[in-house]
Amino acid sequence: MGKKALITGMTGQDGSYLAEYLLDLGYEVHGLVRRVALEDPQRRFTRIEHLLDKVTLHAASLESYPSIFNVISRNEFDECYHLAAQSFVAESFADGFSTMNTNINGTHYMLAALRELQPKCRFYFAGSSEMFGKVREVPQKETTAFHPRSPYGISKVAGFDLTRNYREAYGMFCASGILFNHESPRRGYEFVTRKITSAAARIKAGQQNELRLGNLEARRDWGHARDYVRAMHLMLQQDSPDDFVVASGESHSVGDFCELAFAEAGLDYREYVVQDDRFYRPAEVELLIGDASKAKSVLGWAPHYNFEALIKEMVSKDIATAGDSFVTASA
Ligand code: GDD
Repeated sequence: MGKKALITGMTGQDGSYLAEYLLDLGYEVHGLVRRVALEDPQRRFTRIEHLLDKVTLHAASLESYPSIFNVISRNEFDECYHLAAQSFVAESFADGFSTMNTNINGTHYMLAALRELQPKCRFYFAGSSEMFGKVREVPQKETTAFHPRSPYGISKVAGFDLTRNYREAYGMFCASGILFNHESPRRGYEFVTRKITSAAARIKAGQQNELRLGNLEARRDWGHARDYVRAMHLMLQQDSPDDFVVASGESHSVGDFCELAFAEAGLDYREYVVQDDRFYRPAEVELLIGDASKAKSVLGWAPHYNFEALIKEMVSKDIATAGDSFVTASA
C-alpha cells in the first residue's frame, strides 16, 4: 500500500510540483484547498489541472480550525506538507495582520488538529530564508540566528518555533525546511523572477515596452522549485525529525537575474528596466546565501538545476506562451 499525503497549498508552485513528485512515487495525494478555489477551478487550478483526476481535494480554510479538524478527522494521513501561506513579502507590509493571522494560526491549527487526531502523521513546515532577514552570518545555515525583516518573515519564525515545539513537547515527527528562494515557470507573476522573465518575453513579442522594478542590488540564492520539493519529501523519510537549509549556495543580484533573463530573450536589460520607488520595501533583506551542507550530507539531497538552467527554462516557457492569460505583470 502506498503512503497517503496531505498537502496544503497544492494549487501553488511548490504544491503542484510536490503533488506530481509524490504521485510518481506511488502516494495517494490529498490537497486542502479553499472553497473559493473549488468553485473557480478554471482560474485557481491552472497549476494542477493535469493532476485533477489523480488527487483528492478537500475544502478547508487556514483561518478555520473546525474546517481543518473536519478534513483530518475523516482521513488518515502518513505525511502532511504544510505549504499554504500568504507568501508574498511585499503584501505582508501592506497587510501585516492578515499575513500573521493566516500564516501563524494556520500552522498552529494544522499542528493542533494533527496532535489531537493523528499524532503519528509526519509534518513538514515550509520555513523560509526570510527568517534570517538582516543576516547575522554569511552563508546562512541551520544554526544562524533569525532576524526577520517583514511581517511575513516574523510569521515564518513563529511557524518554525511552533513546529519545533510540537516536536519537543509532544514527540511528534515535525520537520522544517528553511528554503531559500525557489522559482520555476509556475512562479506567480508578483515575484521578481517571474516578473522579469515574463516581461522579457512580452517585450520581445512587442507587447510591453519597459519593466519597472525596485531594488536591483538585493541578492538572493535562487534554486528551482522542482529540486526543492524533493528535499521536503526526504526530510519526512528520516529516522528522526530535524530542520534543514535548502539552498543553491550561490548568490546573485536582481540585476544579474535581469541581465541573464533578457539576454536569453536576445535583449539588453539596461534598455528596458526602470527603477521605481513603488517596488522598494520598507525594510529589505539585502543578502541571502544558504549553506545546504547538512541537507546534502544527511538527506543525500542535491539540486539538478543551476542558476543559468533555471533562467533558461523560465524565459523559454514565457516566450512560448507570451500573451497567454497574463494578468498581474505590474505587481
Ligand atoms: N516582487 C518584487 N517586485 N521584488 C522586487 C522588485 C519588484 O518589482 N524589484 C526588486 N525586487 C527585489 C525585492 O526587494 C527582493 O529583494 C527580491 O527582489 C526578491 O523578491 P521576491 O521575488 O518578491 O521574493 P522574496 O525574496 O521577497 O521572497 C520569496 O522568497 C522567500 C524565500 O527566501 C518568497 O517566495 C517567499 O515566500 C519565500 O519565503
